[in-house]
Amino acid sequence: MSRGKQIYQNECMVCHMENGEGISGAFPPLANSDYFKNDVSKAVDAILNGLEGELVVNDVTYFGIMDPVPLSDQEIADVLNYIRNSWGGTAEELNVADIQKMK
Ligand code: HEC
Repeated sequence: MSRGKQIYQNECMVCHMENGEGISGAFPPLANSDYFKNDVSKAVDAILNGLEGELVVNDVTYFGIMDPVPLSDQEIADVLNYIRNSWGGTAEELNVADIQKMK
């Protein structure tokens, strides 16, 4: 969790904001995002490959561009464990093997 928080603050917070709330219409939220709630591989894909084009998150439409973020599998697991277990959320912990399966 503390490693994940550090990665979040360095790599994600500038756009997705301190509490994962994003900026409605510009940067989608990560807290309570329905985009990857039931399929965390979509978050892994966004980090590894970036994401662009029309995207609906929690009923708000975004037309943004996110560049790939160069993180190791361990760092992806850490940052997603932080994101999914912060701001009121809880989720099962991911490890490196889980991330590798989703790539
Ligand atoms: C430079 C700004 C920026 C940074 C830095 C950034 N993102 Fe994003 N992210 C975006 C934008 C913009 C979108 C929406 C792309 C679209 O509209 O298709 C997005 C979309 C996403 C999505 C899918 C939509 C959602 O809200 O669920 C996830 C997951 C995500 N980002 C995770 C991350 C993580 C994790 C990091 C840090 C490792 C990160 N992002 C860093 C700008 C950023």
